[in-house]
Amino acid sequence: MNDVVIQKTSAFFQEKFGSTPEKVVLSPGRINIIGEHIDYNDGYVLPAAIDKIICFAFSKNNSNESNIIALDLNEEMVVDLTAKVRLSEVVWTNYLLGVVKQLQDNGFNFEGFNCVFSSTIPVGSGLSSSAALECGFLYGINALFQLQIKPVDIALMGQKAEHWVGINCGIMDQFSSVMGLENQVIKIDCKTLEFEYHKADFNEYALILFDSNVKHSLMTSAYNQRRQQCEEGLAILKNNFPEISSFRDCSLEQVQQLQNVMSPNVFKRCSFVVKEIQRVALACAALDQGAIETLGQLMFETHAGLSKEYEVSCDELDYLVDFVKNEKAVVGSRLMGGGFGGCTINLIKKGEEETIKSKLVQGYKTAFGIDLKIYDVKIGNGTSLYETIVS
Ligand code: GLA
Repeated sequence: MNDVVIQKTSAFFQEKFGSTPEKVVLSPGRINIIGEHIDYNDGYVLPAAIDKIICFAFSKNNSNESNIIALDLNEEMVVDLTAKVRLSEVVWTNYLLGVVKQLQDNGFNFEGFNCVFSSTIPVGSGLSSSAALECGFLYGINALFQLQIKPVDIALMGQKAEHWVGINCGIMDQFSSVMGLENQVIKIDCKTLEFEYHKADFNEYALILFDSNVKHSLMTSAYNQRRQQCEEGLAILKNNFPEISSFRDCSLEQVQQLQNVMSPNVFKRCSFVVKEIQRVALACAALDQGAIETLGQLMFETHAGLSKEYEVSCDELDYLVDFVKNEKAVVGSRLMGGGFGGCTINLIKKGEEETIKSKLVQGYKTAFGIDLKIYDVKIGNGTSLYETIVS
């Protein structure tokens, strides 16, 4: 599938700019097995890069201007690199402008270039197409102008670009897009950025995503609000328990003792975060031991917490999870990513996938009148150069 997008992007580049691209970059979306909304709460997460990508073709153009074409949208942006960048009305351009701003703010020197990109990552499905956009774009400029930016710094600068656009996100998406490895999940310590790879072996279960096809328009404001509520809760915890410096030092009992001094929402958010941090540790151990039913059970618990305590689910996502809960062949399911729409991630017994898929497609259509989209997940490599360009 990716061969098609690589070929298409390179061919368009050649036609438009009259030469083959100097660099072609592939930058993936991500899934997350467990550990939701805890990257910005100093927790651990368990994501992986997937084989859905954005392909970028780049060449220098010996000017002070960059021409950037979003092939799928048939839209073009011209950036004057001598001017200060400003947010624009066109959403996709802001992620790239945010990257240019990061490079400028950090004193990197680079000149004009031409760029064409095209994607196989569905937008608004919780698969982090924006992180792939930021990191792939930055990776390409880094390669083109030999800026020597380290992979982890590409992720951190990508995250800052996203903040500039308006979502005060954690590091999970950009980190997994850059650092992903085929058939491995990454356990990231979001406090220290230490990480380790764990084999993505789900035994007799397949990883399948069900896309609710609900776009998360509420996401930005609600996301930033959740983050603020967690900060408020943590400040109360620190005030009362001096030994606490982050949520990972905190027990559920300590949160419960402070229920009366927290607003009901702040209390629910803190309870979720503390439990979710514990669940990731259990889930990672379960994965290592091949105890996939245990891992799946933890995923169901995460969904319940995201829905009732963190309140980032929606009727459609709750339906998708509740439906498969009654199916013996499904051992785990939960909403994945920021929430309010996008995908659920599911562990389904191999051989039973088609039965579950067709039941759910029908049920979902009847309940909401929406077509369910389905993605079979393959865990792939992080952002990289594509070396062999066939023109
Ligand atoms: C979005 C953010 C991530 C993370 C998830 C929720 O994808 O970009 O940083 O917080 O939501 O886990």
